[in-house]
Amino acid sequence: MFSAYIDAALLCYPVLAVVTVQHPKMRTNQSNLQYFVLSFLSLIVLRYACSAYFVIPHQIPLTICASKDQPNPIASIYPSNATGTLNGTVAIIPISLELARQIIPPQYGILEHAYRSLLPSFPQGMYPAIVQALHDHEVQAFGYKIEDFSRTGVEFPFIDLLNDNHSSFKWAPSMLMSSGHDIALKGAMDYGTNIFPSVFEPGCDAYKAVPNSKRPGTTYFSARSLEPGAASLTTLFSSTQEEVFPLEFFKNTTNQPTFADGKSCDNMIRLFNTSVTTGSFGIQPVKGTVRVKLPLFTGEREWTNVYGLRLDTAFVENNYLSCESFRGYSGHV
Ligand SMILES: *[C@@H]1O[C@H](CO)[C@@H](O)[C@H](O)[C@H]1NC(C)=O
Ligand SMILES: *[C@@H]1O[C@H](CO)[C@@H](O)[C@H](O)[C@H]1NC(C)=O
Ligand SMILES: *[C@@H]1O[C@H](CO)[C@@H](O)[C@H](O)[C@H]1NC(C)=O
Ligand SMILES: *[C@@H]1O[C@H](CO)[C@@H](O)[C@H](O)[C@H]1NC(C)=O
Ligand SMILES: *[C@@H]1O[C@H](CO)[C@@H](O)[C@H](O)[C@H]1NC(C)=O
Repeated sequence: MFSAYIDAALLCYPVLAVVTVQHPKMRTNQSNLQYFVLSFLSLIVLRYACSAYFVIPHQIPLTICASKDQPNPIASIYPSNATGTLNGTVAIIPISLELARQIIPPQYGILEHAYRSLLPSFPQGMYPAIVQALHDHEVQAFGYKIEDFSRTGVEFPFIDLLNDNHSSFKWAPSMLMSSGHDIALKGAMDYGTNIFPSVFEPGCDAYKAVPNSKRPGTTYFSARSLEPGAASLTTLFSSTQEEVFPLEFFKNTTNQPTFADGKSCDNMIRLFNTSVTTGSFGIQPVKGTVRVKLPLFTGEREWTNVYGLRLDTAFVENNYLSCESFRGYSGHV
């Protein structure tokens, strides 16, 4: 139990250290950095001392996960950043602009011209909501790895958070996330995200093949909140030849700085050029059905003929940044 808190402290450490060292008022001399490096190291020692001396013999691990995911290919390239891989499906759910306007808080504009410049033929009066169903694998910083977890939700890109009619942000108000993973759950709650601790199927992978399916490459994914009936999200996707939305659109939306309550922003940089994406597995266009129960929508909603991509990407994540610092930011892809 105690070691879980040290785990959390360790994961947050690089962020704390950098924030402190970079904060102008605190940039007095080298001693701050030295202090952080030293106390970070002592936390690591404490962490390993804990697991060495306080292992409860019959304790059942959080999850016994044997994921099929390929290893994190960039951990050694960015050793002092939080990195990992995100395997799963990202798809576009066209909803009416009217519904989008009802769901998205009224103080935030919707940058319709921004998504139309990427998707010129997107139907009039419609808005592209995003559904992501992902497995986070080998998330780590400073060689310190946390356990894998899964998460899913509906996200709203092209939000004019700064009211400049230009910089696109992605609003991710709610999320279903692996129950029992205290670090991930707390990490997301700190953004003001409405979190639903959930059970996932499959438990340790991004999706699973549907046996004997008539359609080629049919896979499913399902998440259900522990709180009965509070939230659920299930997907059923098959491979398709149709590429309705260009890859650039997915790159653009998945890389927009993300916020929930708007007090801080998450800069999740998904890289589309590493071996987990460009390797034999590649990027597969998919078409299918998404069923969602979330407080954002009334009742359970189902969308059919949803187009998306099944892929794995490496990522670098910069957490809890000022949203203002992304004024004019146009992504990193
Ligand atoms: C992504 O997950 C699927 C399902 O578990 C797996 O088959 C595939 O190999 C994974 N892709 C990579 C690149 O790890
Ligand atoms: C790695 O972290 C540092 C410090 O927070 C940051 O300045 C840098 O941009 C990050 N690297 C990437 C690739 O995001
Ligand atoms: C926002 O920018 C777009 C594209 O430059 C422009 O067409 C639109 O009129 C602007 N909206 C406002 C409210 O200024
Ligand atoms: C994402 O799309 C917006 C709107 O067209 C554009 O302003 C921005 O430069 C794009 N970003 C990238 C990295 O392509
Ligand atoms: C992948 O893209 C990132 C960001 O655009 C770049 O910094 C990096 O060098 C590229 N890596 C490879 C292996 O091409």
